[in-house]
This record gives sequence, structure tokens and C-alpha cells, in this order.
Amino acid sequence: MSETTIDPAAFRKVLGSYPTGVCVITALDEGRPAGMVVGSFTSVSLDPPLVGFFPDKSSSSWPLIEKAGHFCVNVMASDQGDVCRAVTAKGEAKFVGVNYVISDHGLPVIADSIAAIECKLYSVTEAGDHWFVLGQVLRMETVREDDPMLFHRGRYGSFAEKM
Ligand SMILES: Cc1cc2nc3c(=O)[nH]c(=O)nc-3n(C[C@H](O)[C@H](O)[C@H](O)COP(=O)(O)O)c2cc1C
Repeated sequence: MSETTIDPAAFRKVLGSYPTGVCVITALDEGRPAGMVVGSFTSVSLDPPLVGFFPDKSSSSWPLIEKAGHFCVNVMASDQGDVCRAVTAKGEAKFVGVNYVISDHGLPVIADSIAAIECKLYSVTEAGDHWFVLGQVLRMETVREDDPMLFHRGRYGSFAEKM
């Protein structure tokens, strides 16, 4: 079976046509918050309760989260653009202005997120230039019923009902 060559620019353009929600994956690294914005979060299994996401192998935050062995999925609301920008910032600017509390599981839970899903690391599987990470849910809560943040073609936005 011959492998088809896929142009990277076409891959990004076509896959970028699919919108996603936006989550911040957080953990504590030696008392400091570690975190990364992901669009690849998804619900996976009910029994056992598993959720997943795909960190890039080049991510500097993922190894810190993996080391912690636990993580919190903070589902972003449409008014949390500042949080997303602060978490994607590099160096000293990262996490500046982000309000969070440390949960009983020792995880940063970002204030005013739509939902918080605290997980124990369940498995990490190689997936090309990414990892496929599964977490087993330990605790979850919906914090508020507002619209989620969405991401499409490089832009943040919010949901608009059409039907
Ligand atoms: C909306 C959005 C979705 C993203 N989704 C992912 C993702 O699913 N996996 C990933 O590895 N990076 C994703 N990124 C990129 C990371 O958030 C970005 O590289 C971040 O700064 C992590 O870098 P660091 O791990 O070096 O801190 C996304 C960025 C944005 C803005």
C-alpha cells in the first residue's frame, strides 16, 4: 500500500475548517501553575470516565503536566480571551493576571471557567508528532451556564444559534 503525501499547508487549512472548543489544561509544578491551551479536548469514555486531548511533542508545558500526574481541564467561556492569551504567553508573561484556586487534588482551577474536570493521568500514547493523553475523571463541576469560547481559522469567537 503506497502512502499518499499530504501537503502540510493544505492539512492545516482543511483541518482548520473544523471548529473547536477551547480548554486550558492546568497542573501544579513545584508550587507554580503550569498550563496549556488546547482545542483537541474531547470526552472519550463513560465507564471508566475518561477524557482526552493531544499535546504537541514540542510543548514545553506538557512535560510539567505529565510529571504532576494529574491535571485539570478548565473549559473556557467566550469572555475568557484574556485567560487564553495569558496561558499561551511565553516566559514571565505566562499566567499573569489569571485567577485560580488550588483544589483538594492540588490542581489550579481557573476562576469563572464554564466547567472544571479534574483528572488523574491514565495513559499517554504516541500519535505522530503529538501525544494522545487520557485522563480518568476524579471530580467535575459545571461552574456557570454561559456560552463557551470557540476557535475557528485562527480566531476566537462564540456560539450563535441558527436553527
Ligand atoms: C485555540 C488553541 C488551541 C490549541 N490546541 C492545542 C492542542 O490541542 N494541542 C497542543 O499541543 N497545542 C495546542 N495549542 C497551542 C498551545 O496552546 C501553545 O503551543 C501553547 O503555548 C503551549 O505551549 P507550551 O506548552 O510551550 O507552553 C492551541 C492553541 C490555541 C490558541
